[in-house]
Parts: sequence; C-alpha cells; structure tokens
Amino acid sequence: MRLIQLNGIIKSYRAGGTQVEAVKDVSLTVQKGEIFGIIGHSGAGKSTLLRCVNLLEKPTAGSVHVGNVELTRLTERQLQQERRRIGMIFQHFNLLSMSTVRENIAFPLALAKQSKAQLNKRVDELLKLVQLEGHADKYPSQLSGGQKQRVGIARALANNPDVLLCDEATSALDPQTTNSILSLLLDINAKLGITILLITHEMNVIRAICDRVAVIDQGEIVEIGDVLQVFLKPEHPVTREFVDQIAENSAARQLLQHRKGRLLRMTYIGSLTYEPILYNAVKTTSVQFAILQGTVSRMKQTPYGQLIVELIGDDADIERVIAVLRKDGLEVDAI
Ligand SMILES: Nc1ncnc2c1ncn2[C@@H]1O[C@H](COP(=O)(O)OP(=O)(O)OP(=O)(O)O)[C@@H](O)[C@H]1O
Ligand SMILES: [Mg+2]
Repeated sequence: MRLIQLNGIIKSYRAGGTQVEAVKDVSLTVQKGEIFGIIGHSGAGKSTLLRCVNLLEKPTAGSVHVGNVELTRLTERQLQQERRRIGMIFQHFNLLSMSTVRENIAFPLALAKQSKAQLNKRVDELLKLVQLEGHADKYPSQLSGGQKQRVGIARALANNPDVLLCDEATSALDPQTTNSILSLLLDINAKLGITILLITHEMNVIRAICDRVAVIDQGEIVEIGDVLQVFLKPEHPVTREFVDQIAENSAARQLLQHRKGRLLRMTYIGSLTYEPILYNAVKTTSVQFAILQGTVSRMKQTPYGQLIVELIGDDADIERVIAVLRKDGLEVDAI
C-alpha cells in the first residue's frame, strides 16, 4: 500500500535575479512500512525534496499525497493538523537549548493540547523507547550528539506519526553513534510500523537500513530500486560513486591496478557459496584463477558476498568459465 506519493514535484528558487531549479519534476512512491532512502551529493536537492513532503517547502508545481490526503490542496490550518502524522528529525537536532529533554519531547504534545498527566505519561514512554530514561531533566548542552538525536526522535514520534522524515540524521555523528541511531530507526520501523523516508550522502546508511533507494542528482532522480539491486548493479555514474564509498570497493579498485589477467567481480546472495562453483568452472579448462579479495557482508537482513578474482588463460576459455559461473547463479561483472 502506498503511503507517500509525490507527483511531478518542481521547486525553484529565485536567488539574486537568477532562477535555481532545486527539484526538477520528481515523482516518487513510498510504500507503507518501508524504509526509503534518497542519496545524493551536496546541493543535489535532497533537503528541498524532503521538505516538500511535509510542505515545509511549498512545491512550485506538483502534488503531494500522504495517505489519502492531498497535502498540496489543504489550507494552512488543515495542514498543521495533517503534519502531526509526519514527524521529522534533523542533522543538527534542532532542539530548544533553553528547555529540558522532557520539555523538548513534550513540545509537540503541548501544541496538541494534551493534559499534563497524559503528556508526562507519553514523555516517559518515549524516553523509554529511545533509551533516555534518567535524562529527562537535562538540557541539550549536557547530552552527547547521539543522545540529542534520540531526543529529536522522541519528539518526532510524540504524536504517533505514520511517517518519519530524516534529514541527514546521522551526518553529525561518529560511526559508532551512527550505528546506534540507525538501529534505533530500524527498531522503530519494525516495532511501530512507521514508514521512514530519509536523505543522506552516505551509502553506509542506505545499506544498513533501507529497503529501497533513489539516487538524486541535480534535482532529478537518476536511479531507483531495491537497495540490493542498486548496490550490486549500479547503473548511473553517480550511483557508482556512492557504491564505491563503501571501503571494500575502493580498496579493491586500488589493489587491481597492476593486474594483467581478466578481473571479475563475482557476487552471490544468500547461501550460495563460491569456492566449489569457481573451482568447478575452471577445472576442465586451462584457466587459472587468483582470488584477490573476498568480502561477506549484510544488506539489512540479506547476507551477500563479493569476490574479486583474476582469471588467467585464453579468452575463449575465460568466456566459457564466465558462462558457467552465471549459469550457477553468480552475478559476474568485468572490472
Ligand atoms: N531557500 C533557498 N533559496 C535559494 N536557493 C536554495 C534555497 N534552498 C536551497 N537552495 C538551492 O537549491 C539547491 C538544492 O539545495 P538542497 O539544500 O536541497 O540540497 P541538499 O541535497 O540537501 O544539499 P546538502 O547535502 O548540502 O544538504 C542548491 O543549489 C541550493 O543552493
Ligand atoms: Mg540538505
């Protein structure tokens, strides 16, 4: 079931006499319950697009549906009501520095005119959810970055939204803290069924938690698909750059520079094992192989492995080996 539907979104700004098209005709559907990532370089239009979803930015053209409601048709007052179904978190947390953790989390509840008792009960639940029990009376300056983002998440979830929008939620955090926030997002998605739409410039974030990904470049979506598919078979050059961010990939590239044989990347998903397959493929031929690199990793819940091999032998035999490998279910790409 689709939850978010963007149709033909255009957003242009007038900056000093010139027109900037930050988002150019983007259409996108996000299914209920999925974690959808949008990745792009700085200035690609990620934040602008994300802010069009809750109409913090008003699109120049196009429509935004969340659930059955077309947000782009609402009055400002109706929009305020609908926005409670859409939580948002930010790179720099955007907490109120003069308010305590409890007050920060209670802020959207107070706006929704809840009683004091209801409000405190809900804040306690949220503190538990984000594992910040015992920090309620602290001020943001007394918290680490990861703890601040947990407060941001609790605040965003206060009114039980259907959707959580995340604008570079982990970009200001170190890798370990990033992982803990990403696990929290996974947990929230699994436990509460909240649909998550996030933007990032880090492929690690996409790989760790997203189901689908769209790559945005200069205001346009240049590639979209299941994370596994996009990750293993990136088509657009910008997508390839992002996939190369994952350390294994760029390390492999360096390693390969002085090799003379045919270099292949073999990819297997799930329980396929590579060694007998490779051995069987070469054993009746003159082809020899050297394994240059192997990795086993995980994309969300799916294990996958990649093996970089050098095949040495005559061309026709190498082609035959590749055909056998493909028949056995491996993805084989030339490097
Ligand atoms: N309020 C504004 N007025 C004028 N131009 C803007 C405005 N907001 C964004 N832009 C321009 O729109 C383009 C896209 O900006 P946006 O902030 O959406 O990019 P981004 O992908 O989020 O980048 P980053 O990764 O650096 O946050 C940029 O060229 C930016 O300069
Ligand atoms: Mg941005």
